[in-house]
Amino acid sequence: MARTPIIAGNWKMNKGTVAEASALAQEVVAAVAGKSGVTVVVCPPYTVLHTVRTALTGSSVVMGAQDGFWKTTGAYTSQISAEMLKDAGVSYVILGHSETRGRFGLSEPEETLKHYGETDATVNLKVKATLAAGLLPIICIGETLDEREGGKTDFVVSSQVAGALTGVTNDQASKLVFAYEPVWAIGTGKVCDAAEANRVCGIVRKTVHSLYGAEVAEAVRVQYGGSMKPDNAAELLSQPHIDGGLIGGAALKSADFAAIINAA
Ligand code: 13P
Repeated sequence: MARTPIIAGNWKMNKGTVAEASALAQEVVAAVAGKSGVTVVVCPPYTVLHTVRTALTGSSVVMGAQDGFWKTTGAYTSQISAEMLKDAGVSYVILGHSETRGRFGLSEPEETLKHYGETDATVNLKVKATLAAGLLPIICIGETLDEREGGKTDFVVSSQVAGALTGVTNDQASKLVFAYEPVWAIGTGKVCDAAEANRVCGIVRKTVHSLYGAEVAEAVRVQYGGSMKPDNAAELLSQPHIDGGLIGGAALKSADFAAIINAA
């Protein structure tokens, strides 16, 4: 079964003013006009979802959010539910990003990480709530440098995948997108070697296979993320287990983002 590649731009806490978000979204729309065969997603900050939705009207580019809470309504100050995201025009929701898991790599002091407190269990709740609202999760997984150097990559990645999927049905699982993002490659310019990225994306698929069987494993899309740029995208995206990219820095420049979409 041929999988449609998916290129998603995670703007993180950037392009957050109405003017910036509107300009970048319009540039992305212009860059992908007339292209087909690839799903293109932009994930702006919450405060400009409405702005970006307006800019994307009539285009094939769809909108994603950078997180979502698992409760539908209630006394959860600061949180945004999947229903709210759906109403705002969101189609995809990034969940379990290493930054929301509080795993910033080496540069962030340990005591600040507790603020996030996201675990496999909360990612799982968010996955189920997102699916229940009819939105599609992009589930992020990936090892830190310490875990890689300690030979724990495959264990970390397969346990994060399995941990996200408790109670998810076969039918729901086949629609999922995973993003393998080695924490040490995010925002560092240190891209994971293409063959190794393909191998770990294969571990993601193998884990899905062990839980749901061959058909679902063949259907899920697995992105690579971590310093993907125009000059390394083609090699990464030509790997058999890599079905797209989750792009940070290079998604903030429409020409770079367009070049990566072209590579897909
Ligand atoms: P960079 O592309 O900036 O390394 O970020 C990757 C990422 O974290 C996307 O979610």
